[in-house]
Amino acid sequence: MPVRPSEFIRLASRPRLVLVMCGLPARGKTHIALRISRYLSWLGYRTRHFNVGTYRRTRLGSQKRHEFFDPRNPEAREARRDVAMAALSDLCDWFREGGEVGIYDATNSVRSRRDAVRARCENEGLAVVFIESICEDEALVAANIRQTKLHMPDYAGMDPDAAVADFRARIAHYASVYEPVAKDEGAYIKLIDAGRELLAHQIQGYVPSRLVSFLMNLHLVPRSIYMTRHGQSEFNKQRKIGGDSPLSPQGEEFSARLRDYMIAEVPSNELMVWTSTLQRTIHTAARIERPTTEWRELDEIDAGECDGMTYEEIQTRMPREFTARTEDKFGYRYPRGESYRDILRRLDRVIVEVERERSPVLIVGHQAVLRALYAYFMDKPTRDCPFLEIPLHTVFKLTPTPYGCDEERIVLGPIIAKGESVTLP
Ligand code: SIN
Repeated sequence: MPVRPSEFIRLASRPRLVLVMCGLPARGKTHIALRISRYLSWLGYRTRHFNVGTYRRTRLGSQKRHEFFDPRNPEAREARRDVAMAALSDLCDWFREGGEVGIYDATNSVRSRRDAVRARCENEGLAVVFIESICEDEALVAANIRQTKLHMPDYAGMDPDAAVADFRARIAHYASVYEPVAKDEGAYIKLIDAGRELLAHQIQGYVPSRLVSFLMNLHLVPRSIYMTRHGQSEFNKQRKIGGDSPLSPQGEEFSARLRDYMIAEVPSNELMVWTSTLQRTIHTAARIERPTTEWRELDEIDAGECDGMTYEEIQTRMPREFTARTEDKFGYRYPRGESYRDILRRLDRVIVEVERERSPVLIVGHQAVLRALYAYFMDKPTRDCPFLEIPLHTVFKLTPTPYGCDEERIVLGPIIAKGESVTLP
């Protein structure tokens, strides 16, 4: 069937990219792979993570001791190669079904293996970027072993010291043959000591360039991100959307409760406070008296011609708009306003900045914007954004972990009468 010009542009601009992780065990490859996967999925790319360790555990059993990873053990070497190639075949099949960015997560520790992976990908018309994680800081490796490796099914029920000794022997097997990625292997990003240094080589195109900027800002410093909507506003009480109305008395009370909670949570001066440029978020955060940044990117979804209306008014006066929004809440754009898809685009900068920040951050925002940020941190499909529950007067405490994010919801009240808060229907 002939391809229409607009369709051609869409197809041609879709990435077909394989990110090949490389590095010794306990270098944070899976952590980095999952962070990349979450970020690119959130940006709207069809992204999937293929972990060769998971394939090995499923096909060959999880309880493999270090001898299995000894390069001088020919039978085990063959078995490890087979599972690695099975994962790669699945990755290639997935691209035939419309995949856009595949992350091939394995040690890929020798040149011959990387050459084979790259040849197979290029044969399928897929571009390859190697992402190598190197740790020169022994303390980082030790922390990684304790935090993640001891919890792997490989060591279930085993004495922790014996597990660490076995894992270190496994690392030594890989290290005995390890070959760093070389310049003549093509495009690569090398991450040294979890973000202390980053080297990029032959990086071209939009997605790989975005990744360089994203990876430059990742770090492993533990801290929490707090998110809350502003206190109830006068518009909330009147069930109107948009606008720039002040806080209601209940909203003011929430602001005082938020101050008490945040000061107890982060008594030091290191808390960063981010608000939108709208007065209801600025006033909600004002009592906390910590360095505050106003971000236009955090402003509520622009309701365009519907700004200041209630949903009942939109339904009566603009029934076609009301129906169009009901049918596609993610893609629907208010006349002369924005859609959820639009706000995701403008929040990209906030995501990179919040990843970069090493201090705890409190984001005082709005419903649609916080739905989009929550989807990023909790790895929810972006199309579900319009349906995520972000109630008023509730703090979401999100704490990044090696393989995800922990969530705590703290309801600070005051509880508001039903109907006095607009939950975008
Ligand atoms: C594993 O089996 O755990 C990883 C295999 C590899 O990437 O070398």
